[in-house]
Amino acid sequence: MPIILLWLLSILFITPIASQPSPSPSPSPHGYLINCGSKIDVEQDGLTYLRDEGYTTTGNITTIKRKDILPILTTLRYFPYGPGKHCYELPVIKGGKFLIRTTYFYGGFDGGNEPPLFDQIIDGTTWTKVNTTEDYKNGLSSYYEIIVIAKAKTLDVCLASNENTKAKASSFISSLEVMNLDPSLYNSTDFSKYGLITIARTNFAAEGAMALQILKESLKNPPDDWNGDPCLPKGHPWFGIRCYEGDQVRVISLNLTGLSLIGTLPKEMARLTALKELKLSINKLTGPIPDLSPLKALEIL
Ligand SMILES: *[C@@H]1O[C@H](CO)[C@@H](O)[C@H](O)[C@H]1NC(C)=O
Ligand SMILES: *[C@@H]1O[C@H](CO)[C@@H](O)[C@H](O)[C@H]1NC(C)=O
Ligand SMILES: *[C@@H]1O[C@H](CO)[C@@H](O)[C@H](O)[C@H]1NC(C)=O
Ligand SMILES: *[C@@H]1O[C@H](CO)[C@@H](O)[C@H](O)[C@H]1NC(C)=O
Repeated sequence: MPIILLWLLSILFITPIASQPSPSPSPSPHGYLINCGSKIDVEQDGLTYLRDEGYTTTGNITTIKRKDILPILTTLRYFPYGPGKHCYELPVIKGGKFLIRTTYFYGGFDGGNEPPLFDQIIDGTTWTKVNTTEDYKNGLSSYYEIIVIAKAKTLDVCLASNENTKAKASSFISSLEVMNLDPSLYNSTDFSKYGLITIARTNFAAEGAMALQILKESLKNPPDDWNGDPCLPKGHPWFGIRCYEGDQVRVISLNLTGLSLIGTLPKEMARLTALKELKLSINKLTGPIPDLSPLKALEIL
């Protein structure tokens, strides 16, 4: 197993995990057990793993037809090769401590015999590369664990192609567990001792990301990969968006040409003050055009 923090295992038995009947926009107090790619909720070891509908908007699902594997490993969600990142978005309480565990069992789902290689990303920061080759050869699933402090009201766990991803190989995930750690069980001393890893969001998260989230919500049909952070990590922006990645990450171009978008442009667009290019033709946008005069850098409209 690539990363095993044995001391953490005890938490799993101390912290009860509530099951939720269906995805809900409010944070689950205990966390989430998600059976990726499943159309139904599944019991395993007395715990209910939820179907992933409602927590992600991209990818395709498939089943591994083997009788000798755990229930949560029999389904997976996979994401086509490409520059975008593919995310699960989980409502959480800002400031909460979470143990995130991702589990991968390839099972030859794509008809091949080599598991694809890819990155996993949390809240816009690349967490690790996923390489399950060795485990898969030995008939094992692989899991990765990390502890993070939620910097916002959603926690984004994403997959993306990296330099090791072969052309046309799809990233995939079998299960996603996000457990809210009771702050009284493990105080900050414990965390620094055992290597608490905080995933920092850049200051971009404030204005630019907010404006783009509002734009996403104003559209009836936003592009599928508009999940997670619009610009981060580097090289994996939302479709149609280009970012400048200096000290401050800024959106410099928004090209939504020909996406048949339906909806309105929110007035918050005026907060994208580094925007140089804004292309909106061949869409079905309605309503007033917001006042874009604060966009001093705008060269192409
Ligand atoms: C994946 O799903 C999309 C729709 O979400 C569909 O257009 C596409 O054909 C599917 N691809 C595969 C390989 O099943
Ligand atoms: C993935 O893991 C296998 C087996 O441990 C190793 O041979 C291979 O070099 C790794 N690939 C990358 C890109 O790290
Ligand atoms: C945190 O844990 C350390 C030992 O792990 C203990 O010495 C300390 O008193 C604890 N602090 C609080 C605030 O509980
Ligand atoms: C904008 O997007 C359209 C459609 O995706 C593409 O044809 C065009 O080349 C893009 N323009 C720029 C400047 O990237």
